[in-house]
Amino acid sequence: LHTLPQISWTTCTLHRKNLAAFFFLNIILLQHKLKTFINPVTDSWIVQESFFHWAFGVTEADCYGAIDVDSGKSILFVPKLPESYATWMGEIFPKEHFKEKYAVDEVHHTCDVSLSVLVFTAQPLWSVLLTLRGQNTDSGSTCREASFDGISRYTAGYSFSVCSRVVKTDMELEVLRYTNRVSSEAHKMIMKHVKPGKKEYEMESLFQHYCYTKGGMRHTSYTCICGTGNNSSVLHYGHAGAPNDKTIADGDMCLFDMGGEYYCYSSDITCSFPANGKFTPDQRAIYEAVLKASRAVMAALRPGVKWTDMHRVADRVHLEELVKIGILIGSVEDMMKVHLGSVFMPHGLGHLLGIDVHDVGGYPEGIERIDEPGLKSLRMGRLVQERMVLTVEPGIYFINHLLNQALANPAQSCFINNQVLARFRGFGGVRIEDDIAVTADGIELMTCVPRTVEEIEAFMADSTKPFSPVV
Ligand code: GLY
Ligand code: MN
Ligand code: MN
Repeated sequence: LHTLPQISWTTCTLHRKNLAAFFFLNIILLQHKLKTFINPVTDSWIVQESFFHWAFGVTEADCYGAIDVDSGKSILFVPKLPESYATWMGEIFPKEHFKEKYAVDEVHHTCDVSLSVLVFTAQPLWSVLLTLRGQNTDSGSTCREASFDGISRYTAGYSFSVCSRVVKTDMELEVLRYTNRVSSEAHKMIMKHVKPGKKEYEMESLFQHYCYTKGGMRHTSYTCICGTGNNSSVLHYGHAGAPNDKTIADGDMCLFDMGGEYYCYSSDITCSFPANGKFTPDQRAIYEAVLKASRAVMAALRPGVKWTDMHRVADRVHLEELVKIGILIGSVEDMMKVHLGSVFMPHGLGHLLGIDVHDVGGYPEGIERIDEPGLKSLRMGRLVQERMVLTVEPGIYFINHLLNQALANPAQSCFINNQVLARFRGFGGVRIEDDIAVTADGIELMTCVPRTVEEIEAFMADSTKPFSPVV
């Protein structure tokens, strides 16, 4: 068993202070969002609204939280439960229980929220109630605003600044290290178990089993992507229409993108390796090209660099390596001008990671997405800052429709050696995805899995040998 991180709710106190620092008056009201009750019988799986979780850390359903900005006082509203709850769901705790558990100043019942707010707003300066409102610039989804009977008398919906969630506190970093530690071990366990003849979903199931049984992680951060063979070129494979159900074949590349979640905090890790444990020359060449891009980005990453430049670093390394392999011919500088890198890596280099796997704050007001192939898919446009947690996830994929488009475009096809490229049709793809925390002068690598070809082959060859990375 992994040692569980000791979560203290005082970390949420700090988050609430950060949030309150953006406002001068009034009360901020956040509400648990009933995004999904996966199991309507026991409410066993709720998805807490991320800002509410960040500010209050509450795991129970149907709560509200309010922060009096002037005094910093925090008020939690919990539902007044019917007696039958004690029969079906368990003990009904008094308000004091939640006050202590979540380190808040006051606890009231949600049925009294209107009355409580009335008490606050009766004070002359407390006449406005702010509620979280807004659209996530990444997912496009809108957040459900807190509401109760009579709220229209007070509210001024507000798009919260997400700055405070972009940089992580010590406690958040501890939890993210934990999600990475457990998920890294789970990936290593998969590498020991994978074999031609098994199903992709067996790997998904084993990963989930390890994360839950050894790490207490009940959920994964996203649906597991277990692409093998050509499926490894499908960026978000594993969805309902393609549910990781292919039989793994000898000679397949595996691309397993999986991350466990703990206390709503994510991890997002991809390992790529041959199913039979031995790279072919072509597999090694593509893998090492991606690894070189990953390591070039990590060497350059520090506070103050532009994330968009990091994306370009990865593109450039990929193109240089594809020239060495013989798939491309000509000047890499000229290839960059026609965005050839995006044919092989159509997604962004990486994204912020936290409570949301694609965490908020990538594009604050005033920072626009760059409307170029590849870069337009980048989920963060701002400068890199200390205490950000990011994924670094370069990849090279052989996606037929993108290759065909490039071959039909004279500006790009002039760089492509179609005869060599033909050898890679059906190869699939390679992605290497690590989670990093930005430090004062560089990065802390949170993910720990075999990464070089030699490490992977040695690790997969010996089912008894523990993994020790070559530093
Ligand atoms: N697993 C989704 C992503 O890498 O962004
Ligand atoms: Mn990712
Ligand atoms: Mn991923």
